[in-house]
Amino acid sequence: MDLLYQICRMKKYTGFLLYTFVFAVFFIASGCREKSQPEQGAWIKGSEREKIKKIEKQFRGFDHAMVETGYRYQELYWAGQDENWEYADYQIEKIRVAIENGLERRPKRAKSAEHFLSFALPEMQKSVSERDTAVFKRGFEMLTTQCNNCHAKEKMPFFSVKPPNKRQSPIQK
Ligand code: HEC
Repeated sequence: MDLLYQICRMKKYTGFLLYTFVFAVFFIASGCREKSQPEQGAWIKGSEREKIKKIEKQFRGFDHAMVETGYRYQELYWAGQDENWEYADYQIEKIRVAIENGLERRPKRAKSAEHFLSFALPEMQKSVSERDTAVFKRGFEMLTTQCNNCHAKEKMPFFSVKPPNKRQSPIQK
């Protein structure tokens, strides 16, 4: 209030003072905003080793690969229903990338995934290349069995995979 009073009294300088006041408020406020937002990457603290561990943790384990695989498996199914073969090819390729990246992080799972990567996925690819829904359906059933086989090998049969009955994604033909 004192400051406002003074501004009113010093008519000659009112314009100048007001301008300075507004500028200062703006300047201080923007400074405060910067302080309240932590610097990007500031959470990656500690020694080099600790930093790598922190970043690695964010990539998650095999579960992350499987959440992605689960989504892409469903998309592959609908691609087959839509006869959107390019989209089906794309999803098969991305399932491979998700699983291979997952295995890089969790190599203990690699043995169980061997058959899936070297046989099931290439077979699914072949089915898609036929551009035929009946062939696709058979291929997809085989793929589903192979998903569940790996879950059994990994002693997690409760991850029971079945083809979806509702579409989630907006990609439709
Ligand atoms: C290594 C062999 C392996 C293959 C091949 C595999 N899975 Fe999995 N899946 C796992 C393991 C292991 C888990 C448990 C993840 C964990 O605890 O890290 C899992 C979990 C899941 C989950 C639950 C993920 C979550 O955290 O909610 C889904 C969904 C899933 N799998 C779908 C599939 C589908 C669909 C396929 C086939 C296209 C497939 N999986 C193929 C090993 C496999």
